[in-house]
Amino acid sequence: MRVVSGIQPTGKPHLGNYLGAIVNYVKLQDEAEAQGGECFIFLADLHALSMTHDPAELTRNTREMVATLVACGVDPSKTVLFNQAQVPAHAEMQWLLNGTARMGWLNRMTQWKDKAGKNREGQSVALFTYPVLQAADVLLYQATHVPVGEDQKQHLELARDIAQKFNNDFCDEDAPLFTLPEPFIPPSAARIMSLRDGTSKMSKSDPSEMSRISLTDDPDTVMKKVKKAKTDPEPLPSEEAGLEDRPEARNLVGIYAALTGKTPAKVLSEHGGQGFGAFKPALGEVLVETLTPINARFMELKGDQEALDAILARGASRARERGIPTLDAAYKALGLVRG
Ligand code: TYM
Repeated sequence: MRVVSGIQPTGKPHLGNYLGAIVNYVKLQDEAEAQGGECFIFLADLHALSMTHDPAELTRNTREMVATLVACGVDPSKTVLFNQAQVPAHAEMQWLLNGTARMGWLNRMTQWKDKAGKNREGQSVALFTYPVLQAADVLLYQATHVPVGEDQKQHLELARDIAQKFNNDFCDEDAPLFTLPEPFIPPSAARIMSLRDGTSKMSKSDPSEMSRISLTDDPDTVMKKVKKAKTDPEPLPSEEAGLEDRPEARNLVGIYAALTGKTPAKVLSEHGGQGFGAFKPALGEVLVETLTPINARFMELKGDQEALDAILARGASRARERGIPTLDAAYKALGLVRG
């Protein structure tokens, strides 16, 4: 079992990142340890170059993201925790895979289409080739499980396509180089939606702070955001079918379910018939209960830059070591000798 996943150190991590991905980093890190497998979690700082960015902010966010991940339970003694920039094999592997990835495949990526909008010509080349770097990230470590939210599923499918084509083109049939990675997506938190609009996903890039709960929001802010969340005037239904066509209600029930480890059906069997005036405070409390210890730990870790840098340096050294055999084999398969 090889668990590999990444998160961009841009902006503050939010509830969608937490429920969609980080909770599963922790779960799979423990499963991998129990099975004698390995877990690699990294900050995708090279991916952050695909959009306009402020270098000083990127450095600061990278440290803060390490502190957040550790505060959420990613344990650097069990997980190889690092940032891409310190492991040149990611960029090298991307270049090798650029020969295999097809323009048509990248053109179909919905994230590319959404982020580029009508201005494709004005985008960075990095935004277009972003999914090839993502493929390199997971293939370099022979990932089997990749914990992600649903928005990353298409990128993982592309990683599989690249791996398969590379194996077909450059490897013997009985000795493929790359393992095909499987996305690991949580059922009730695959896509946490904005608190202001139940049809668009909760995102770091949404201009409204009220659209998302940041993992470092204090209890008053959390309560305020939940109380102001967009809803409809109907009470909660008693069964899941009643959530159809009610995206905001479905989102809040989904968040409650994911936080409490219950199914949405169970949440509705307990809260069905309640109006949002009663359900929102209950949801706010569960959120505050989850986030308070994370926040306390984050505040403790955040100030110790040296310790955070040491975690990254140690993780990077281990990642460099673990990635080399596959990188060497990829060079060799392509008829290149690595210097
Ligand atoms: P990023 O930084 O946008 O998000 C980090 C993780 O959080 C998940 N996520 C969500 N899940 C549920 N609901 C939401 N509203 C929500 N918003 C974000 C994302 O699916 C992701 O798992 N390209 C990736 C980073 C990356 C990566 C990788 C991931 C680079 N290389 C290799 C996996 C494997 C990204 O930008 O995630």
